[in-house]
Amino acid sequence: MRKKVIAGNWKMYKTQADAQEYLQEFLPQLDETPEEREVILCVPFTDLAVMSRNLHGSRVRLGAQNVHWESEGAFTGEVSAPMLVELGVSYVVIGHSERRQYFGETDETVNQRLKAAQAAGMVPILCVGETKQQRDSGQTEDVILKQLAIDLEGVEQSRLVIAYEPIWAIGTGDTCESKEANRVIGIIRNQLSNSDVPIQYGGSVKPDNIDEIMAQPEIDGVLVGGASLVPSGFGRIVNYS
Ligand code: PGA
Repeated sequence: MRKKVIAGNWKMYKTQADAQEYLQEFLPQLDETPEEREVILCVPFTDLAVMSRNLHGSRVRLGAQNVHWESEGAFTGEVSAPMLVELGVSYVVIGHSERRQYFGETDETVNQRLKAAQAAGMVPILCVGETKQQRDSGQTEDVILKQLAIDLEGVEQSRLVIAYEPIWAIGTGDTCESKEANRVIGIIRNQLSNSDVPIQYGGSVKPDNIDEIMAQPEIDGVLVGGASLVPSGFGRIVNYS
């Protein structure tokens, strides 16, 4: 059976003090969470050290939001995989649409970052998804298949999570209909050589739609932005029924 993977993506929110305060409220909610659910918090680089200390002994795994493909070098502003691993990071989001849209991330650099993350022992969370315009013009499937073909070249599927994140659903409150997300995730799964890769849905996941989303057979988890910033809300999401 595929693992259920629930990840929060804090994006560029929360100082170290905010992060500590969050955990005080969030961690006790995990007492009831079924063992087999993997719970991950993907936080800004500046929060990693304090999170690593505060998560010690808890079941929450630490994630970063990007990683460079070289282990060191003259790359001002970038962070490498060995640097993350040293801080106890085990997951890393790669190819998020905000990085593709605002920071020039391409499928080729996504592919390099995925391989570097795996080589250092981390599990990448690869994000793919279509824009509103691509969806409206019937290109959803083509766009995602093209992303997967380039992104996954030479990538090991035994240590990988994929997140299907329709761009028009991110941060808009306009969640993709759960049956439709299930359909697209099924298409993604058909492209993979390993049927055990957990595939998440992401885009306006909230406490009030999580149960319906997780009831879909192809959806193995969620990648949650805005709603992961509130400890009680993210607690409800992790404890979906
Ligand atoms: P959202 O973001 O939950 O705020 O829509 C999801 C994401 O960007 O991963």
